[in-house]
Amino acid sequence: MPPCPALPEGFDFTDPDLYRRRVPLPEFALLRRTAPVWWNAQPYGSAGFGDDGYWVVTRHADVREVSTRPEVFSSHRNTSVIRFRPGIPSEHLDHQRLMMLNMDPPEHTRVRQIVQRGFTPRAVRALEGALRRRARAIVTAARERGSGDFVTDVACELPLQAIAELIGVPQEDRAKIFDWTNKMIAYDDPELAATEETGARSALELISYAMGLAAARAACPARDIVSRLVAAEDEGNLRSDEFGLFVLMLAVAGNETTRNAISHGMHAFLTHPEQWDLYKRERPATAAEEVVRWATPVTSFQRTATRDTRLGGADIAEGQRVGLFYASANHDPEVFDAPGTFDITRDPNPHLGFGGGGPHFCLGKSLAVLEIGLIFDAIADVLPGIRLAGEPRRLRSAWLNGIKELRVEYGA
Ligand code: HEM
Repeated sequence: MPPCPALPEGFDFTDPDLYRRRVPLPEFALLRRTAPVWWNAQPYGSAGFGDDGYWVVTRHADVREVSTRPEVFSSHRNTSVIRFRPGIPSEHLDHQRLMMLNMDPPEHTRVRQIVQRGFTPRAVRALEGALRRRARAIVTAARERGSGDFVTDVACELPLQAIAELIGVPQEDRAKIFDWTNKMIAYDDPELAATEETGARSALELISYAMGLAAARAACPARDIVSRLVAAEDEGNLRSDEFGLFVLMLAVAGNETTRNAISHGMHAFLTHPEQWDLYKRERPATAAEEVVRWATPVTSFQRTATRDTRLGGADIAEGQRVGLFYASANHDPEVFDAPGTFDITRDPNPHLGFGGGGPHFCLGKSLAVLEIGLIFDAIADVLPGIRLAGEPRRLRSAWLNGIKELRVEYGA
C-alpha cells in the first residue's frame, strides 16, 4: 500500500465530522499530488461492516476510469454500505440490491432502459412550465417573509415538487414524501432527530406508498412516469418491488442532491457578489453546471473490485472497496483552471458532480440542471437584493455535502 505519512493515524475520509469543517478537504489536494489512489485503513463509513479499509480515489481521470469499467468495479458487490444507504435494516438488504444504483450490467441495463423512458428530454421539457411557475411562487412567498432560512423556504421546495410532478404524486400526499426522505437521509446528524430506525421505517412506508401508486396507475393510467413504467407490458416492465425501490431512489436522489446544490449555489453567489451581479445581468447558461461542480452535493460513491487490478499506481485486490471522491475530482487542477474559483461562465466544465460517466451516470441530470436554472432565475427576478444573515450550518454527513440552515434577508 502506498504510504501517506502526512495524514495522521486514524484519519478516515468517511468520517462525517470531517466534512463539517471545509469542503473540499485540503487532504484531497495532498493525496492528488502524493498518493492519488490511497489506502485508508478504516472500516468503510459509519456502517462498519467489518472491512479493514477502502481505496480513496482522488483524481478526475481515475474517478472516470472506475465509473466507466463496471466489469472491474462493481456496484452490486458489497451493496450493504452503499453511500445512498437509506437506512434500510439488514433484513431488507436483498431489496436494496434491487435498486438500480446497486446493480451491474446486464441487469442494470435492463432496468435503466425501462426507466429512461420517463426521463427523455421531452419528458423533462414537459415539466418546465409548471416548474417555472412553482419557482416563482416559492420565492415570492419567501419575499413576503422578509427573512428566514433559505434551505426550508426556498431550496427544499422545488426539487420535491419536481419529483412529485414527475411521479404524479397528488398534491395532498407531497408533504409525506418530503418527511420520509428527510428521515431516511439524516441518520448521521443527531441534531435532525432521525435515527437508523426512523429512517428504515420511512423507507418502507415510502416503498409501500409507491407500490400503491403503481397499482392505481396500472388500473387507470395517467400521463406520468409511473404509468409509463407499470403500464407498458409489451416493452418490458419493472417488477413491483423494483418499482417501489425506484421511487424511493428518485425521492432521495432527486430531492437531497438538488436541494443542496441550490443552497450551496446561493451561498456561493452571496459570498461572490460579482458572480451574483453577473448572473442577474446575463443569466449565463453555464451557471447551473458550475453550481454543481462547486457544491458537489454527492461527496462520494463506492464500488468493489471484481478482480485484482491496477489504478493510479496502486494495486487493488479483488474484493476491496473503492471510494470515488467526486469532491476531490471536481477540484483537480489537471482538468480545471483555478479550481478554487467560483466562475459561472466556466466552459467547458467536465465536472463529475453527476458521476464519472458510465452506466450509472445521473439519470436526473437534465431535470436537476433545469431546476437550478429556474430557481436562480426566479431569485434574480424577485429577490435581487437577497443578503446573507449568518454562516451556513452544515449537515453532518460523509457522503452528502449538505447545508441544513442558511439564514438570509430576502430584501424588498
Ligand atoms: C445517480 C448526483 C439529481 C436521479 C447519481 C449519481 C450521482 C448523482 C453522483 C451516481 C453516478 C454514478 O454512480 O456514476 C446528482 C446530483 C444531483 C442529482 C449532484 C443534483 C444536483 C438527480 C435528480 C434525479 C436523480 C433530480 C431524479 C429525479 C438519479 C438516479 C441515479 C442517479 C435514478 C442512478 C442512476 C443509475 O444507477 O443508473 N446522481 N443527482 N438525480 N441520480 Fe442523480
